[in-house]
Amino acid sequence: MEFEGAHRYQQPVASEPLRPVRWCDDGLLLLDQRKLPAEETYLHFSQSLGVAQAITDMVVRGAPAIGLAAAYGAVLAANEVRVEDSGQWLVKFKLLLGVLAASRPTAVNLGWALQQMTVVAETFEGNQRQGAQPQNSADLVALLQRVADQLLADDLRQGVQMAELGTAQINPGSRVMTHCNAGGLATGGVGTALGVINLAWKQGSIERVYASETRPWFQGARLTAWELQRQGVDTCLLIEGAVAMLMKEQSIDWLIVGADRIAANGDVANKIGTYGAALLARAHGVKVMVVAPQSTFDLEIASGDEIEIEQRSGEEITDVGASRVAVPGVPAWNPVFDVTPAELIDLIVTDKGVLEAPFGVAIQTLLK
Ligand code: MRU
Repeated sequence: MEFEGAHRYQQPVASEPLRPVRWCDDGLLLLDQRKLPAEETYLHFSQSLGVAQAITDMVVRGAPAIGLAAAYGAVLAANEVRVEDSGQWLVKFKLLLGVLAASRPTAVNLGWALQQMTVVAETFEGNQRQGAQPQNSADLVALLQRVADQLLADDLRQGVQMAELGTAQINPGSRVMTHCNAGGLATGGVGTALGVINLAWKQGSIERVYASETRPWFQGARLTAWELQRQGVDTCLLIEGAVAMLMKEQSIDWLIVGADRIAANGDVANKIGTYGAALLARAHGVKVMVVAPQSTFDLEIASGDEIEIEQRSGEEITDVGASRVAVPGVPAWNPVFDVTPAELIDLIVTDKGVLEAPFGVAIQTLLK
């Protein structure tokens, strides 16, 4: 098997409602997003190392979803340490979480989720040292699993809240564009940008959705179009190179996207191409809405300049699937996120409320 402690899950898995990350049969079940839309295949993970590899390889992707996968990866890590051997287990547990944390660098939700699991484990260890109660590995695993389940439940609830708040901003008859996939697949199941788009469509406010294909990994063509079609949303694909033309000719009202990390000043890291689309939106009078839960804010960084941008293999550009398309030997530059400056963003919709520019003070007030 390509991932440590993982196997293809053979049992039938209900695909409605969409739940790309779930705990099942004492392990983590992930919908393999590399295979969509051709195949709905699930992988079952029983080791934390396998989960870290799966995040790096994009079996699971999207900022909130990788946070949730890592939280369940921490449950598996707890199962790999022997709590009964007091003294050393917390060190080993933190090492395993370090591997999960290093699996992708840009989305803050990953470190955020792991930090919550670490605090729970530290408290457990403190109680153990004080002899507060007899505790064994099964107790720690059960405790961490409850926390991970809670994070998943919170994500789903926040998705619904953001959908309602964002939809309230969209006038009937709107035409919107989205980039990458910020849907149920990128979260616990509701989505951020696509949560808004789906609800606004159901309420009759959206007339048509344009989704950019999102080179090089095709999150738009493979995942967003798949999700929107399942919801019966009128969806049209375009290449990123057509965005200027789209905005000039098709009366687009909103560009609606998710986020991987939002700095204290409101700068937003999201899928490569978001910055360009936001610049074009400003040039054509299209409003920009970013939709993200509280866990996507990183108040420890003042601006987007401090965000680490993940660089992936150039082969993702030179090859499409198994086919080489580029001339042999040509190098390729593949940063997979960019930073949209706060001044290009009209609204940031969070589960706690809608923020308007200037964002700095609004973010501090909302999240304190
Ligand atoms: O490389 P990916 O597919 O993980 O990138 C995902 C995005 O950029 C999403 O837009 C972002 O995580 C928001 S998801 C709710």
